[in-house]
Amino acid sequence: MIPFVDLKQQYARHHDAFEKAIKNVCSSSSFILGTEVERFEKRFAKYLGVKECVGVASGTDALWLSCRALGLKKGDEILIPANTFISSASGAFDLGMGIVPVDVEPETYLIDIKDAEKKVSDKTKAIMPVHLYGRSTDMDAIKAFAEKYKLFIIEDACQSHGAMWKGQRTGSFGAVGCFSFYPGKNLGCFGDGGMVATNDLKIAEKIRLLGNCGSLKKYVHDISGYNSRLDTIQAAVLNVKADFIDEWNDRRFRAACRYADALSCIKEVAPPVFDRGKSAENVFHLFVIQCERRSELMQYLNAEGVQCGIHYPTPLHLHKAYESLGFGKGICPVAEKLADRILSLPMFPEITDAQIDEATQIVKNFYK
Ligand SMILES: Cc1ncc(COP(=O)(O)O)c(C=O)c1O
Repeated sequence: MIPFVDLKQQYARHHDAFEKAIKNVCSSSSFILGTEVERFEKRFAKYLGVKECVGVASGTDALWLSCRALGLKKGDEILIPANTFISSASGAFDLGMGIVPVDVEPETYLIDIKDAEKKVSDKTKAIMPVHLYGRSTDMDAIKAFAEKYKLFIIEDACQSHGAMWKGQRTGSFGAVGCFSFYPGKNLGCFGDGGMVATNDLKIAEKIRLLGNCGSLKKYVHDISGYNSRLDTIQAAVLNVKADFIDEWNDRRFRAACRYADALSCIKEVAPPVFDRGKSAENVFHLFVIQCERRSELMQYLNAEGVQCGIHYPTPLHLHKAYESLGFGKGICPVAEKLADRILSLPMFPEITDAQIDEATQIVKNFYK
Protein backbone atom coordinates (compact mmCIF):
# COMPACT_ATOMS: atom_id res chain seq x y z
CA MET A 1 0.00 0.00 0.00
CA ILE A 2 1.29 3.47 -0.87
CA PRO A 3 -0.50 6.02 1.33
CA PHE A 4 -1.46 9.41 0.00
CA VAL A 5 0.24 11.05 2.99
CA ASP A 6 2.15 9.19 5.70
CA LEU A 7 2.05 11.14 8.93
CA LYS A 8 2.90 8.11 11.04
CA GLN A 9 6.49 8.08 9.79
CA GLN A 10 7.09 11.68 10.80
CA TYR A 11 5.62 11.00 14.23
CA ALA A 12 7.75 7.89 14.75
CA ARG A 13 10.97 9.68 13.70
CA HIS A 14 10.51 12.65 16.03
CA HIS A 15 8.51 10.87 18.69
CA ASP A 16 10.73 11.79 21.64
CA ALA A 17 10.86 15.48 20.76
CA PHE A 18 7.07 15.62 20.35
CA GLU A 19 6.45 13.85 23.65
CA LYS A 20 8.83 16.17 25.46
CA ALA A 21 7.28 19.30 23.95
CA ILE A 22 3.72 18.20 24.75
CA LYS A 23 4.65 17.08 28.27
CA ASN A 24 6.23 20.46 28.94
CA VAL A 25 2.98 22.22 28.10
CA CYS A 26 1.00 19.77 30.23
CA SER A 27 3.28 20.02 33.22
CA SER A 28 3.30 23.83 33.04
CA SER A 29 -0.51 23.69 32.69
CA SER A 30 -0.24 26.84 30.61
CA PHE A 31 -2.66 25.66 27.93
CA ILE A 32 -3.75 28.95 26.37
CA LEU A 33 -1.26 31.16 24.47
CA GLY A 34 1.98 31.50 26.53
CA THR A 35 5.61 30.96 25.57
CA GLU A 36 5.18 28.16 23.01
CA VAL A 37 2.76 30.25 20.94
CA GLU A 38 4.94 33.35 21.24
CA ARG A 39 8.05 31.40 20.30
CA PHE A 40 6.43 29.88 17.25
CA GLU A 41 4.95 33.21 16.11
CA LYS A 42 8.39 34.82 16.33
CA ARG A 43 10.18 31.99 14.52
CA PHE A 44 7.64 31.84 11.76
CA ALA A 45 7.79 35.63 11.30
CA LYS A 46 11.58 35.42 11.04
CA TYR A 47 11.37 32.51 8.61
CA LEU A 48 8.95 34.42 6.37
CA GLY A 49 10.76 37.72 6.76
CA VAL A 50 7.71 39.63 8.05
CA LYS A 51 7.30 41.93 11.02
CA GLU A 52 4.69 39.89 12.85
CA CYS A 53 2.81 36.63 12.85
CA VAL A 54 -0.36 35.99 14.82
CA GLY A 55 -1.47 32.45 15.59
CA VAL A 56 -5.14 31.60 15.03
CA ALA A 57 -7.22 28.44 15.20
CA SER A 58 -7.08 27.42 11.50
CA GLY A 59 -6.31 28.56 7.97
CA THR A 60 -10.01 29.19 7.44
CA ASP A 61 -10.01 31.56 10.41
CA ALA A 62 -6.80 33.24 9.22
CA LEU A 63 -8.52 34.13 5.93
CA TRP A 64 -11.78 35.20 7.51
CA LEU A 65 -10.21 37.28 10.29
CA SER A 66 -7.93 38.91 7.72
CA CYS A 67 -10.92 40.14 5.72
CA ARG A 68 -12.34 41.63 8.91
CA ALA A 69 -9.06 43.13 10.05
CA LEU A 70 -8.66 44.86 6.68
CA GLY A 71 -12.10 46.44 7.12
CA LEU A 72 -13.62 44.58 4.18
CA LYS A 73 -17.39 44.54 4.35
CA LYS A 74 -20.66 43.68 2.70
CA GLY A 75 -20.72 44.63 -0.97
CA ASP A 76 -16.93 44.78 -1.37
CA GLU A 77 -15.65 42.37 -4.00
CA ILE A 78 -12.69 40.02 -3.83
CA LEU A 79 -11.04 38.23 -6.77
CA ILE A 80 -10.37 34.57 -5.93
CA PRO A 81 -9.08 31.81 -8.23
CA ALA A 82 -11.77 29.26 -9.06
CA ASN A 83 -9.36 26.38 -8.52
CA THR A 84 -8.99 26.30 -4.76
CA PHE A 85 -10.30 24.88 -1.49
CA ILE A 86 -13.58 26.47 -0.43
CA SER A 87 -12.05 28.13 2.66
CA SER A 88 -10.31 30.66 0.43
CA ALA A 89 -13.75 32.23 -0.04
CA SER A 90 -15.78 31.30 3.03
CA GLY A 91 -14.72 34.23 5.23
CA ALA A 92 -15.47 36.77 2.51
CA PHE A 93 -18.80 35.06 1.85
CA ASP A 94 -19.72 35.20 5.54
CA LEU A 95 -19.02 38.92 5.60
CA GLY A 96 -21.45 39.38 2.70
CA MET A 97 -18.68 40.30 0.30
CA GLY A 98 -18.96 39.60 -3.41
CA ILE A 99 -16.86 36.59 -4.35
CA VAL A 100 -15.57 36.97 -7.89
CA PRO A 101 -14.21 33.66 -9.24
CA VAL A 102 -11.25 34.14 -11.55
CA ASP A 103 -10.09 31.51 -14.00
CA VAL A 104 -6.67 29.86 -13.69
CA GLU A 105 -3.73 29.49 -16.04
CA PRO A 106 -3.66 26.19 -17.93
CA GLU A 107 0.02 25.63 -17.08
CA THR A 108 0.29 26.63 -13.43
CA TYR A 109 -3.38 26.11 -12.42
CA LEU A 110 -3.04 29.40 -10.48
CA ILE A 111 -4.96 32.67 -10.81
CA ASP A 112 -4.97 34.06 -14.35
CA ILE A 113 -4.32 37.78 -14.15
CA LYS A 114 -5.74 38.27 -17.67
CA ASP A 115 -9.09 36.96 -16.46
CA ALA A 116 -8.78 39.10 -13.31
CA GLU A 117 -8.47 42.14 -15.63
CA LYS A 118 -11.84 41.21 -17.16
CA LYS A 119 -13.53 40.76 -13.79
CA VAL A 120 -12.20 43.66 -11.73
CA SER A 121 -14.81 46.36 -11.01
CA ASP A 122 -15.08 49.53 -8.97
CA LYS A 123 -16.38 47.38 -6.11
CA THR A 124 -13.24 45.21 -6.07
CA LYS A 125 -11.22 45.77 -2.91
CA ALA A 126 -8.96 42.74 -2.72
CA ILE A 127 -7.27 40.00 -4.71
CA MET A 128 -6.36 36.61 -3.27
CA PRO A 129 -3.50 34.72 -4.89
CA VAL A 130 -3.73 31.11 -3.71
CA HIS A 131 -0.35 29.40 -3.94
CA LEU A 132 -2.08 26.13 -4.64
CA TYR A 133 -0.33 22.76 -4.47
CA GLY A 134 2.73 24.57 -3.04
CA ARG A 135 3.43 26.55 -6.21
CA SER A 136 4.19 30.22 -5.83
CA THR A 137 1.96 32.61 -7.77
CA ASP A 138 3.71 35.19 -9.99
CA MET A 139 3.80 37.90 -7.34
CA ASP A 140 5.21 40.53 -9.71
CA ALA A 141 2.01 40.30 -11.72
CA ILE A 142 -0.18 40.30 -8.60
CA LYS A 143 1.60 43.30 -7.08
CA ALA A 144 1.35 45.31 -10.31
CA PHE A 145 -2.35 44.46 -10.62
CA ALA A 146 -3.07 45.32 -6.97
CA GLU A 147 -1.25 48.64 -7.30
CA LYS A 148 -3.07 49.51 -10.51
CA TYR A 149 -6.51 48.96 -8.95
CA LYS A 150 -5.58 49.84 -5.34
CA LEU A 151 -6.46 46.43 -3.94
CA PHE A 152 -5.40 44.59 -0.81
CA ILE A 153 -3.46 41.42 -1.46
CA ILE A 154 -4.63 38.59 0.79
CA GLU A 155 -2.34 35.63 0.17
CA ASP A 156 -3.74 32.19 0.74
CA ALA A 157 -0.48 30.42 1.59
CA CYS A 158 -2.23 27.51 3.28
CA GLN A 159 -0.48 25.05 0.93
CA SER A 160 2.82 26.84 0.38
CA HIS A 161 4.84 26.97 3.61
CA GLY A 162 8.38 27.90 2.61
CA ALA A 163 7.76 28.42 -1.12
CA MET A 164 9.36 31.53 -2.58
CA TRP A 165 8.79 33.93 -5.42
CA LYS A 166 12.14 35.35 -6.57
CA GLY A 167 13.74 34.69 -3.19
CA GLN A 168 10.89 36.01 -1.04
CA ARG A 169 8.63 33.66 0.88
CA THR A 170 4.98 33.33 -0.09
CA GLY A 171 2.79 34.78 2.61
CA SER A 172 5.09 37.78 3.04
CA PHE A 173 4.02 39.87 0.03
CA GLY A 174 0.45 40.81 0.82
CA ALA A 175 -1.27 43.01 3.37
CA VAL A 176 -1.66 39.60 5.01
CA GLY A 177 -0.47 36.06 4.35
CA CYS A 178 -2.66 33.26 5.66
CA PHE A 179 -1.40 29.81 6.67
CA SER A 180 -2.97 26.54 7.74
CA PHE A 181 -1.24 23.98 9.94
CA TYR A 182 -3.76 21.23 9.22
CA PRO A 183 -1.91 17.92 9.85
CA GLY A 184 -1.20 17.01 6.22
CA LYS A 185 0.24 20.41 5.26
CA ASN A 186 3.96 20.88 4.56
CA LEU A 187 4.11 22.24 8.10
CA GLY A 188 1.25 20.67 10.00
CA CYS A 189 0.36 20.22 13.65
CA PHE A 190 -1.59 17.49 15.46
CA GLY A 191 -4.98 19.09 14.94
CA ASP A 192 -6.09 22.46 13.60
CA GLY A 193 -3.98 25.59 13.59
CA GLY A 194 -3.39 28.69 11.50
CA MET A 195 -1.41 31.91 11.22
CA VAL A 196 -1.67 35.40 9.80
CA ALA A 197 1.60 37.00 8.69
CA THR A 198 1.85 40.73 8.10
CA ASN A 199 4.23 43.69 7.95
CA ASP A 200 1.54 46.00 9.29
CA LEU A 201 1.61 46.05 13.08
CA LYS A 202 -1.87 47.57 13.26
CA ILE A 203 -3.32 44.68 11.27
CA ALA A 204 -1.46 42.23 13.51
CA GLU A 205 -2.98 43.84 16.58
CA LYS A 206 -6.44 43.75 15.04
CA ILE A 207 -6.09 40.03 14.28
CA ARG A 208 -4.90 39.43 17.84
CA LEU A 209 -7.91 41.31 19.20
CA LEU A 210 -10.38 39.60 16.90
CA GLY A 211 -9.05 36.14 17.69
CA ASN A 212 -9.00 36.69 21.45
CA CYS A 213 -12.59 37.74 22.12
CA GLY A 214 -11.80 41.36 21.25
CA SER A 215 -9.38 41.63 24.13
CA LEU A 216 -5.66 42.19 24.68
CA LYS A 217 -6.10 42.67 28.42
CA LYS A 218 -8.18 40.31 30.52
CA TYR A 219 -11.84 41.36 30.63
CA VAL A 220 -11.22 44.54 28.66
CA HIS A 221 -13.07 44.09 25.36
CA ASP A 222 -12.50 46.92 22.95
CA ILE A 223 -14.22 45.28 19.99
CA SER A 224 -16.50 42.33 19.50
CA GLY A 225 -14.30 39.34 18.65
CA TYR A 226 -14.15 35.56 18.49
CA ASN A 227 -12.23 32.74 20.07
CA SER A 228 -9.64 31.81 17.46
CA ARG A 229 -6.23 31.24 19.04
CA LEU A 230 -3.42 28.93 18.05
CA ASP A 231 -3.62 26.12 20.61
CA THR A 232 -0.57 25.93 22.88
CA ILE A 233 0.00 22.20 22.43
CA GLN A 234 -0.18 22.67 18.64
CA ALA A 235 2.37 25.50 18.89
CA ALA A 236 4.69 23.19 20.85
CA VAL A 237 4.39 20.57 18.08
CA LEU A 238 5.06 23.22 15.44
CA ASN A 239 8.16 24.38 17.32
CA VAL A 240 9.54 20.85 16.93
CA LYS A 241 8.58 20.55 13.27
CA ALA A 242 9.73 24.04 12.20
CA ASP A 243 13.36 22.85 12.22
CA PHE A 244 12.64 20.45 9.36
CA ILE A 245 10.46 22.41 6.96
CA ASP A 246 13.19 23.20 4.42
CA GLU A 247 14.54 19.65 4.45
CA TRP A 248 11.03 18.25 3.98
CA ASN A 249 10.31 20.68 1.15
CA ASP A 250 13.55 19.65 -0.59
CA ARG A 251 12.51 16.02 -0.38
CA ARG A 252 9.11 16.84 -1.84
CA PHE A 253 10.78 18.62 -4.76
CA ARG A 254 13.06 15.67 -5.45
CA ALA A 255 10.09 13.32 -5.35
CA ALA A 256 8.23 15.57 -7.81
CA CYS A 257 11.19 15.50 -10.24
CA ARG A 258 11.26 11.71 -10.13
CA TYR A 259 7.52 11.47 -10.69
CA ALA A 260 7.63 13.95 -13.58
CA ASP A 261 10.50 12.11 -15.30
CA ALA A 262 8.78 8.76 -15.00
CA LEU A 263 5.38 10.01 -16.17
CA SER A 264 6.59 12.11 -19.09
CA CYS A 265 6.45 9.17 -21.54
CA ILE A 266 2.73 8.48 -20.97
CA LYS A 267 0.77 10.36 -23.57
CA GLU A 268 -2.50 10.24 -21.61
CA VAL A 269 -0.87 11.95 -18.63
CA ALA A 270 0.34 15.54 -18.21
CA PRO A 271 2.62 15.93 -15.20
CA PRO A 272 2.99 19.43 -13.73
CA VAL A 273 5.23 21.77 -15.70
CA PHE A 274 7.90 23.32 -13.48
CA ASP A 275 11.41 24.68 -13.63
CA ARG A 276 13.92 22.16 -12.21
CA GLY A 277 16.32 25.00 -11.45
CA LYS A 278 13.82 26.82 -9.23
CA SER A 279 13.16 24.37 -6.43
CA ALA A 280 12.20 27.17 -4.03
CA GLU A 281 9.24 28.23 -6.18
CA ASN A 282 7.35 25.00 -5.69
CA VAL A 283 7.22 23.08 -2.43
CA PHE A 284 4.88 20.43 -3.85
CA HIS A 285 2.29 20.21 -1.15
CA LEU A 286 0.51 18.08 -3.73
CA PHE A 287 1.69 16.37 -6.90
CA VAL A 288 -1.15 16.92 -9.36
CA ILE A 289 -1.29 15.43 -12.84
CA GLN A 290 -3.86 15.77 -15.60
CA CYS A 291 -5.03 12.50 -17.03
CA GLU A 292 -7.44 10.80 -19.41
CA ARG A 293 -10.17 8.50 -18.03
CA ARG A 294 -9.60 9.79 -14.52
CA SER A 295 -12.21 7.85 -12.57
CA GLU A 296 -11.08 4.53 -14.11
CA LEU A 297 -7.45 5.35 -13.38
CA MET A 298 -8.33 6.28 -9.82
CA GLN A 299 -10.18 3.02 -9.29
CA TYR A 300 -7.27 1.08 -10.77
CA LEU A 301 -4.72 2.86 -8.56
CA ASN A 302 -6.82 2.28 -5.46
CA ALA A 303 -7.28 -1.39 -6.33
CA GLU A 304 -3.50 -1.69 -6.75
CA GLY A 305 -2.94 -0.08 -3.34
CA VAL A 306 -2.00 3.45 -4.41
CA GLN A 307 -4.05 6.08 -2.62
CA CYS A 308 -4.85 9.18 -4.62
CA GLY A 309 -7.15 12.21 -4.42
CA ILE A 310 -8.68 15.08 -6.37
CA HIS A 311 -7.83 18.66 -5.44
CA TYR A 312 -10.45 19.80 -6.17
CA PRO A 313 -13.35 18.07 -7.93
CA THR A 314 -15.58 21.18 -7.90
CA PRO A 315 -14.40 24.68 -8.83
CA LEU A 316 -15.25 27.39 -6.32
CA HIS A 317 -18.16 28.90 -8.25
CA LEU A 318 -19.97 25.57 -8.71
CA HIS A 319 -20.30 24.62 -5.04
CA LYS A 320 -23.87 24.25 -3.79
CA ALA A 321 -22.88 26.52 -0.91
CA TYR A 322 -22.62 29.42 -3.38
CA GLU A 323 -25.67 28.52 -5.45
CA SER A 324 -27.40 31.68 -4.27
CA LEU A 325 -24.70 33.75 -6.00
CA GLY A 326 -25.95 32.41 -9.34
CA PHE A 327 -22.60 31.80 -11.05
CA GLY A 328 -23.29 28.71 -13.17
CA LYS A 329 -20.98 26.90 -15.56
CA GLY A 330 -18.81 28.60 -18.15
CA ILE A 331 -17.38 31.57 -16.22
CA CYS A 332 -14.03 29.86 -15.54
CA PRO A 333 -13.60 27.31 -18.37
CA VAL A 334 -9.99 26.35 -17.61
CA ALA A 335 -10.73 25.60 -13.95
CA GLU A 336 -13.87 23.70 -14.95
CA LYS A 337 -11.96 21.52 -17.41
CA LEU A 338 -9.17 20.90 -14.91
CA ALA A 339 -11.63 19.80 -12.24
CA ASP A 340 -12.56 16.83 -14.47
CA ARG A 341 -8.99 15.86 -15.31
CA ILE A 342 -6.74 16.41 -12.28
CA LEU A 343 -5.51 13.69 -9.99
CA SER A 344 -3.18 13.95 -6.98
CA LEU A 345 -0.67 11.15 -6.49
CA PRO A 346 0.92 10.23 -3.13
CA MET A 347 3.26 12.99 -1.94
CA PHE A 348 5.00 13.39 1.41
CA PRO A 349 8.62 14.03 2.40
CA GLU A 350 9.34 10.42 3.33
CA ILE A 351 8.04 8.89 0.11
CA THR A 352 10.73 6.59 -1.28
CA ASP A 353 12.03 6.28 -4.83
CA ALA A 354 10.70 2.71 -4.85
CA GLN A 355 7.21 3.93 -3.94
CA ILE A 356 7.29 6.57 -6.68
CA ASP A 357 8.51 4.02 -9.21
CA GLU A 358 5.81 1.59 -8.18
CA ALA A 359 3.04 4.19 -8.37
CA THR A 360 4.18 5.38 -11.81
CA GLN A 361 4.50 1.81 -13.08
CA ILE A 362 0.89 1.19 -12.08
CA VAL A 363 -0.16 4.31 -14.03
CA LYS A 364 1.80 2.97 -17.03
CA ASN A 365 0.16 -0.44 -16.71
CA PHE A 366 -3.25 1.17 -16.75
CA TYR A 367 -2.68 2.94 -20.07
CA LYS A 368 -0.92 0.00 -21.74
C1 LIG B 1 -5.85 26.57 -0.15
C2 LIG B 1 -6.43 26.42 1.23
N1 LIG B 1 -7.00 27.47 1.82
C3 LIG B 1 -7.51 27.40 3.05
C4 LIG B 1 -7.47 26.23 3.78
C5 LIG B 1 -8.10 26.16 5.13
O1 LIG B 1 -7.23 25.77 6.15
P1 LIG B 1 -7.76 25.01 7.45
O2 LIG B 1 -8.11 23.63 7.07
O3 LIG B 1 -6.61 25.08 8.40
O4 LIG B 1 -8.92 25.77 7.95
C6 LIG B 1 -6.86 25.11 3.22
C7 LIG B 1 -6.79 23.84 3.97
O5 LIG B 1 -7.07 22.79 3.53
C8 LIG B 1 -6.33 25.20 1.90
O6 LIG B 1 -5.77 24.14 1.31
